[in-house]
Amino acid sequence: MNLTDLTFVQDFIGLAADASEKEWHERNGGNLSYRIRTEEMDFTRLRFAPELKETGEWTRIGVSVPELAAECFLVTGSGKFMQHVGESPEENLAIVQIDTRGENYCVLWGLEKGGRPTSEFPTHLMNHAVKKRTTDGLHRVIYHAHPVDTIALTFVLPLNNRTFTRELWSMITECPIIFPEGIGVLPWMMPGGREIAEATSDLMKTFNVVVWAHHGVFCSGATFDEAFGLMDTIEKAAEIAVKVRSMGGKKNDITMKNLKDLAKEFDVTLNPDMLD
Ligand code: 13P
Ligand code: ZN
Repeated sequence: MNLTDLTFVQDFIGLAADASEKEWHERNGGNLSYRIRTEEMDFTRLRFAPELKETGEWTRIGVSVPELAAECFLVTGSGKFMQHVGESPEENLAIVQIDTRGENYCVLWGLEKGGRPTSEFPTHLMNHAVKKRTTDGLHRVIYHAHPVDTIALTFVLPLNNRTFTRELWSMITECPIIFPEGIGVLPWMMPGGREIAEATSDLMKTFNVVVWAHHGVFCSGATFDEAFGLMDTIEKAAEIAVKVRSMGGKKNDITMKNLKDLAKEFDVTLNPDMLD
């Protein structure tokens, strides 16, 4: 057995493979991170000790995440292509550990030909910190992609949570059931830094989806399937929205009453900020 055969590594590779089939990952676009369970990391240390580097070289994260002190993450490398993750995970991925203050990280495994974790690591970690707290540790996956139609919509819709939520809720009957809290939207911001990490994680307190205008989407989930499925649902709803608009706009619609009936039937609470 190799380290890359571990279930959480295989599940990570599975998402990367599914994602590569979509048109959301041009070149190195998009990135993925997983907060490794304590028992998974204990087993990894026990079974693969010789493969783990203990360099003691710490690098500043650029944001402060004390909630994630000593946690370990599996994460894509900066500049690495999602489509290459499966063929050489040891070159394209890293297992990193956060220090006891939540200020620095050190690479324990991977990035064999050099590199560093994704440039969006500050956003990933701040989202993980929020989700660890707000979901009682349930959410472990943060996924960023560049899905075509969702990005296209950010050029025509007003950039606010309510407009995007209502537009996407109305495109597929199951959307309000899949993301009843709605989605968050940020205006264009400089990627890769502290400011966008803070703004995104602030919206992640309420939402599991945050759209970055003219750039892409961040999703959070308890599992790889959940995070990927959420991205897929958002993008499919956006694709329908683009098609409807290209055909001259809505002539019929799901009504507010339909949405409220749906919520009652499926026992979900729709975010009241998005309702009339
Ligand atoms: P990385 O290659 O650093 O992960 O960047 C890709 C990206 O999508 C930045 O937003
Ligand atoms: Zn991006």
